[in-house]
Amino acid sequence: MDDTRTRLTKDGIRLYDPADFAGMHEAGRLAAEILDRVAPLVEPGQTTAAIDKAVEDMVNAAGATSATIGYKGYQHATCISVNHVVCHGIPGEKKLHDGDILNVDVTVIVDGWFGDTSRMYVAGKRTRKAERLIDVTHDALFRGIEAVRPGNTFGDIGHAIQSFVEAQRMSVVRDFCGHGLGRVFHAPPNVLHYGRPGTGPVLEEGMFFTIEPMVNLGRPETKVLADDWTAVTRDKSLSAQFEHSIGVTADGCEIFTLSPAGKFHPTWA
Ligand code: MF3
Ligand code: CO
Ligand code: CO
Repeated sequence: MDDTRTRLTKDGIRLYDPADFAGMHEAGRLAAEILDRVAPLVEPGQTTAAIDKAVEDMVNAAGATSATIGYKGYQHATCISVNHVVCHGIPGEKKLHDGDILNVDVTVIVDGWFGDTSRMYVAGKRTRKAERLIDVTHDALFRGIEAVRPGNTFGDIGHAIQSFVEAQRMSVVRDFCGHGLGRVFHAPPNVLHYGRPGTGPVLEEGMFFTIEPMVNLGRPETKVLADDWTAVTRDKSLSAQFEHSIGVTADGCEIFTLSPAGKFHPTWA
């Protein structure tokens, strides 16, 4: 529709053109800027519904569209996943407590391009174990990103993440994965956050996808609650996640969703 010719790999992964990177940078920058502006809203007593409402207002004020409102019946501009919620937490009226950790995940559409990113936040005073989990999860995402270059495979990305996380005696969630995106929200391939080197599709210049590892302090198993969205750790252990949208270049990758304010990395100053 938007293209007369679409290039696909033999694994059905779309290859975008060099000119398409600019559109993804626009969408990614807005999503990241919105997450920058979430930071001061996260405090004990705040509700996740209020954070979601603020994000929805920011998306609208930017003249962009929320990708999640109306997506498979989902009603909100964010997923907000608190403590043992792994992902797809639904914003609501429950108040945040001191020491809660939360992932805020936002996806915006700008000029038809999708920018999908999530980060961790802490309400009030963090515990040492929460800080460690969040640091390991963030570093795991970057281990994965460092494995992105043409000729490497998706298994190399998964292996980089899994081996790093398990060496810290934490676990990688298997039940959810990253995904291709671009002109659409979710496209091939499934980007697994575990795997064996040299397995899976080979990376090629022009692939756009997310990497979004979920890491648990306890066991990796999850279950989805009766609301059909909220995924939690079966053992109730704390879970963390970070997500970037990236594009494969000739010699590595570009990250579309880096924080304009440099806030993405959780620095615990
Ligand atoms: N942003 C999520 C992802 O990283 C998807 C959320 S879909 C929703 O893929 F409907 F739950 F919002
Ligand atoms: Co995603
Ligand atoms: Co997301």
